[in-house]
Order: sequence, then C-alpha cells, then structure tokens
Amino acid sequence: MDEQNFYLDTIGQIVPAQREQIINAFYEFLELEHLYESAAEIVKTQLSIYDNEFSMKFQRNPIHNIKSRIKSPQSIVGKLQKKGHPVSAKSAEQHLMDIAGVRVICYYIDDIYAIAELLTRHDEFKLVKVKDYIKNPKPSGYRSFHMVITVPVYMAATKKRVPVEIQIRTIAMDFWAALEHQLHYKTSCEVPLSLKEELKECAEIISMTDLRMQDIYQQIHELD
Ligand code: GTP
Ligand code: MG
Repeated sequence: MDEQNFYLDTIGQIVPAQREQIINAFYEFLELEHLYESAAEIVKTQLSIYDNEFSMKFQRNPIHNIKSRIKSPQSIVGKLQKKGHPVSAKSAEQHLMDIAGVRVICYYIDDIYAIAELLTRHDEFKLVKVKDYIKNPKPSGYRSFHMVITVPVYMAATKKRVPVEIQIRTIAMDFWAALEHQLHYKTSCEVPLSLKEELKECAEIISMTDLRMQDIYQQIHELD
C-alpha cells in the first residue's frame, strides 16, 4: 500500500488521499461562499438603510432595485486559470475582487454618485478600487459606476475583511447592459459590426435621456 495515497478519515477508515483532498476543497469552497454571501448581505442591508432614510426624509427612493450574486465555482476556476493563478479557495480570496457582486439600480445619475459617496464615507468600509464608466464609457458604450470595497464580516471566532464589487447604474443603463451582455454569448457566429454600432448609439441616446430625465425631475420639483 502506498502510504502517501491513503488517509485515515474521521471514523478511522482508510480512504484515498485524493478523496480527502476533494472533500477539503469542497468545504473550503462552502466557507468561501458563506463568507462572500455574508459580505454581500452587509452591503445590501446598508444600502437599504440609506434608501429608507432618504425615503423617510424626502419622500423618494433613490434606489430602484438591488441585486446580488456570488460567482459560481466554474467562473471562479475559469478566471483564476485565465489570470494564471493557482486554483484554490485561498488563491480566489487573494486574487479575485468580484466573488461577491452587488448591483444597485438607481433612478437618476445624481443618485449613483450620492450612493457611491455614502459607501465611501462609511467608517467600516474601505475603498479598494473605483472605475467610473459613466464619465469614461467603455468602447462598447457601457456605462456604469464600479467600485470595490472591503467590508468586515464577523464570525464566531474570527473577523475577515471581504471584498465586494458594487456596480451602480440607472434603470436605462441597466436595460442597455442586459441586452449588450447577450452579445457575449453569441460566440458561434460573428456579430455584425452594424449591430455593435447601433447598440453604441443607443447607449449614447440613453445617456442623454438620463440627463434630460434628471433635469426634468429637478424642474418639476422647483415648481412647488
Ligand atoms: P475583470 O473582472 O477581471 O474583467 O476586471 P474588472 O473588474 O476590472 O472589470 P470591469 O470593472 O471592467 O468589469 C466588470 C464587470 O462589469 C463585468 O463582469 C460586467 O458585469 C460589467 N461590464 C464591463 N464591461 C461591460 C460591457 O462592455 N458590457 C456589459 N454588458 N457589461 C460590462
Ligand atoms: Mg471584475
């Protein structure tokens, strides 16, 4: 019997080491998932607190909708491999900033910056990265405000700082991004350039419409 390939499990059974490694990796992934889900919940709760406070004071909700997702094991492995990092839960914690993602859909552009500012000023949150694709849209036409913050997650025995990627955009920007995202799944056929150009044009129209809607909103409220 090759000793290196066998292992005594918790009930004293001899099991192949590889099986034990798979079980360990599985538990490590479950812990990772729990940690990042908790971090996303903390961010969502804080966002709801701001939204409710705003609604109480100004009779208006700046946030239309909040969604969150945890990156799937397949995507985590795929991204680690693509970036040339080792594939393990520890490596994912070290190298990936978007395992937990929160998407905040606002009504107006000013709301986006107000929410981002509040998150930046929060004592417990630390700002890691900001990418303003509203001021600097992507070549595709994509517009959104991205930030990565770390939030402290308190568990029974430990406290960990966990990164959460937050994407903040308007309803119209989100509508556009959802349609444009579908292009990325069309790998079997070549996407016509004209379609990409039309989408980009729509992004520009949407951006102007967002500004006009905000302006109209302000004018309506100056009427009182
Ligand atoms: P990676 O996550 O390693 O790609 O780098 P990054 O976090 O610096 O990327 P970035 O902030 O540019 O984009 C992260 C996310 O934004 C993506 O996973 C998408 O959800 C979204 N995104 C970025 N660019 C586009 C785009 O052109 N179209 C759409 N629909 N979504 C985009
Ligand atoms: Mg990312």
